[in-house]
Amino acid sequence: MAGYSCKPVHNMRSLIFLGFLAVALQVNAQQGFVSIDCGMDGSTSYIDNVTGITYDPDAEYINSGVNYKINKTYLETAVPVQAETLRAFPDGDRNCYTIDGIIQGDKYLIRGLFFHGNYDGLTSVAFELHLGMNFWQLVNITEPSYPFWEEIITVAQDNSFSVCLVNINSGTPFISALELRHIGSTNVFKDVNQTSSLVLYARVNMGDAARDIRYPDDAYDRIWWLFIASTDWSDINSSQPIQTSPGDAFQVPSAVMATAVTPANGPSLIFSFGADTGVVYYVYMHFAEFDALNQTENRIFDVFVNDKLIVSSVKPEYLLSTHISLIGTSTLETEVIQNFTLTSTSGSNFPPILNALEIYSVLPVQ
Ligand SMILES: *[C@@H]1O[C@H](CO)[C@@H](O)[C@H](O)[C@H]1NC(C)=O
Ligand SMILES: *[C@@H]1O[C@H](CO)[C@@H](O)[C@H](O)[C@H]1NC(C)=O
Ligand SMILES: *[C@@H]1O[C@H](CO)[C@@H](O)[C@H](O)[C@H]1NC(C)=O
Ligand SMILES: *[C@@H]1O[C@H](CO)[C@@H](O)[C@H](O)[C@H]1NC(C)=O
Ligand SMILES: *[C@@H]1O[C@H](CO)[C@@H](O)[C@H](O)[C@H]1NC(C)=O
Ligand SMILES: *[C@@H]1O[C@H](CO)[C@@H](O)[C@H](O)[C@H]1NC(C)=O
Ligand SMILES: *[C@@H]1O[C@H](CO)[C@@H](O)[C@H](O)[C@H]1NC(C)=O
Repeated sequence: MAGYSCKPVHNMRSLIFLGFLAVALQVNAQQGFVSIDCGMDGSTSYIDNVTGITYDPDAEYINSGVNYKINKTYLETAVPVQAETLRAFPDGDRNCYTIDGIIQGDKYLIRGLFFHGNYDGLTSVAFELHLGMNFWQLVNITEPSYPFWEEIITVAQDNSFSVCLVNINSGTPFISALELRHIGSTNVFKDVNQTSSLVLYARVNMGDAARDIRYPDDAYDRIWWLFIASTDWSDINSSQPIQTSPGDAFQVPSAVMATAVTPANGPSLIFSFGADTGVVYYVYMHFAEFDALNQTENRIFDVFVNDKLIVSSVKPEYLLSTHISLIGTSTLETEVIQNFTLTSTSGSNFPPILNALEIYSVLPVQ
């Protein structure tokens, strides 16, 4: 059975330091970003129209592989322009991109985009991603028109990163884009350290949003995906910005926090995810109250996982980001559905809300 526990999320020690960091990030926008468009010919960088991020061709980061263009009938509007080209590795068991200029001991977000786009007429391929000598993720492409993203947040063990595509005799490894974002030594991603990285499972923006939200709304360029809402949910939004407390360890963008879901009927919000076996999960839920409640009104709810009470009496603060952090361990032999239920307490006269959700699996590293 899966077991969950709750961890306190506030760390006031970093209060002053984070205030300073926020200023530094604004001044040095995009500093600490490495954005590589794989398989691109030439040596000229370009600015992505949607994000404003500058992408470089990949030739200076790798010297093996073959450049391809996808079949353009597969390039949909929702797919970033980086997906138009890719680099494939028909030769060698292990082909690696090397990114230098890394600050050893600092936290980084590393993300790959894999968009097959029927470039070679084959429809499925599987290979492994390794970060240096550590296994990171199996990439299993089963749909040529679907963009697969893989993301890890890790502490740099060295002054460079080596991102490797490893052939497992299931087709030719390839990659469309590689992105690295400097997080630094801040309290953000507090659960990432020298021995534990986090691999992204889901990061979703609840409520009606027009687009995925990333940089520049998110200073770290985390991608907050649109979520196809259940018909049991209603979308709500705030016309006012959502603030973060000093020392907030999640730094969820206001644009993400300003939309949320609430039950269409009844006292409960219910959602599920399929957990892999033998994996430790971190689940972060983000809340903010949109209504200026008076003394007799309140919105208080309990959080259950698989019908077990995990956090009681969550009370989102008015126009201020509030977070809970859960740790889940799945020890079953087979994949298990984790059911999350947010239910109003008996004394609450408003239903639960959920503004955003992140789920990561813990990857031990050496
Ligand atoms: C940017 O947008 C313009 C106009 O929509 C388009 O012509 C151009 O190709 C785009 N450039 C890139 C790099 O996406
Ligand atoms: C691109 O894909 C479409 C749809 O699958 C196919 O009809 C077309 O022949 C492909 N083009 C090339 C150049 O492979
Ligand atoms: C990839 O996924 C497909 C479909 O789920 C599965 O049949 C296949 O075994 C997977 N490949 C690997 C290498 O795990
Ligand atoms: C590193 O993080 C993991 C998971 O968050 C935690 O269990 C472990 O105690 C941490 N180790 C150190 C040295 O902080
Ligand atoms: C925000 O909610 C109001 C109703 O409360 C709705 O009319 C409006 O369309 C919503 N705006 C967005 C951007 O979803
Ligand atoms: C709180 O708001 C409700 C609904 O608008 C109202 O009925 C109630 O009288 C208000 N209570 C106080 C103490 O202002
Ligand atoms: C999760 O909910 C589904 C659907 O209600 C149910 O079939 C399943 O047994 C639940 N799983 C757990 C672990 O509670």
